[in-house]
Amino acid sequence: MTAPKQTIWPLEAHTRAKHEILKRYLQAWMVILSQGRFPEILYIDGFAGPGEYAGGEAGSPMIALDTALGYKPPLTAKVHFLFVEERADRADHLRGLIAQRSLPSNFSVVVEGGATFEAAFTKLYPSFIRNGRLMPTFAFIDPFGWTGAPFSLVKRILAQRSCEVFVNFMYEEINRFISHPDQIDNFDGFFGTEEWRRCASASDPRTRNRCLHDLYLRQLGTSADYVRSFEMSNARDVTDYFLFYATNELLGLKKMKEAMWKADESGEFRFSDATDPNQLVLFEKAPNFPTLQARIVTKFSGRQVSVGDIERFSVVETAFRETHYKGILKTLEQSGRLNVIEPAPSRRIGTFGDPAMLLRFT
Ligand SMILES: C[S@@+](CC[C@H](N)C(=O)[O-])C[C@H]1O[C@@H](n2cnc3c(N)ncnc32)[C@H](O)[C@@H]1O
Repeated sequence: MTAPKQTIWPLEAHTRAKHEILKRYLQAWMVILSQGRFPEILYIDGFAGPGEYAGGEAGSPMIALDTALGYKPPLTAKVHFLFVEERADRADHLRGLIAQRSLPSNFSVVVEGGATFEAAFTKLYPSFIRNGRLMPTFAFIDPFGWTGAPFSLVKRILAQRSCEVFVNFMYEEINRFISHPDQIDNFDGFFGTEEWRRCASASDPRTRNRCLHDLYLRQLGTSADYVRSFEMSNARDVTDYFLFYATNELLGLKKMKEAMWKADESGEFRFSDATDPNQLVLFEKAPNFPTLQARIVTKFSGRQVSVGDIERFSVVETAFRETHYKGILKTLEQSGRLNVIEPAPSRRIGTFGDPAMLLRFT
């Protein structure tokens, strides 16, 4: 996609999935953090856009704001929104949309127009510090390409407890310009390393794709405990973009996967978990359970493990969810390939509700 010039532009089909995932995830994130442990939380949209598309569809900042406004019962924490948009006309458009909403007193919305994400974040950072730390933050980083989203900034956010990032890695654009001599410094900044230069020299498109993807994944992994990537590819099986999610909270990872698995397929695009190059898993209505079964059996064969270990493995090391593995354990137990060593009292066969239950794979 070439970056549009007008203030608002038509919504492309591939953007819909991104918005749907964002919305689903925020429905969980805001309520977990707000009703739970924290008096203040921060939502950043670093590349906010005008807040709506040419057909009247909501843009990402309005999706976040309306999600927060839609809670019943209402959110009790102080919720800060920082929307940054470099183009003044787009920022003005966004302000106009926000002015149509009635905001409760615990919402604080700042639109930084005519400023870059980096400049705005650096300027406002001190105002979001509580007890010496950045308040719990979700940062959505959604540039048209790669400029303006330096890795140093991503790292700075991830270094703080309960802070996470969701980055739209515009592979198609990045790949198109990766060998452009004018972009060397920008790519150094975006990847936070010079290693991308090695990827750029790969002539095979598939190799280059994996190399750039894996590099960004590794970079995020230096700052976050859990990192996953999701690939949106078109009907010709060409990568359009990757969404990278990085967090230090296991619950966050679970909620993001839930959002991914529930995203509707448009038919035009294919949406898959791309974290492990050897284990691409499509987000389909009917998950590919044989794949997860094979992963679990390979991992735990001949070993004694707890149900909790299997859940953690499924969530952290595979594309699957915590709701996906129990049916597999049931099948394995019924076919005698799994023995329960320490059952919970009054357990029914085929049930695995207690994470402390010990199992042995034969
Ligand atoms: C992909 S669009 C954002 C779309 C929006 N997040 C959504 O999903 O509705 C990227 C936006 O970032 C703005 N932009 C470009 N460079 C920027 C920078 N360095 N900092 C902040 N905004 C920037 C562009 O003007 C454009 O409106």
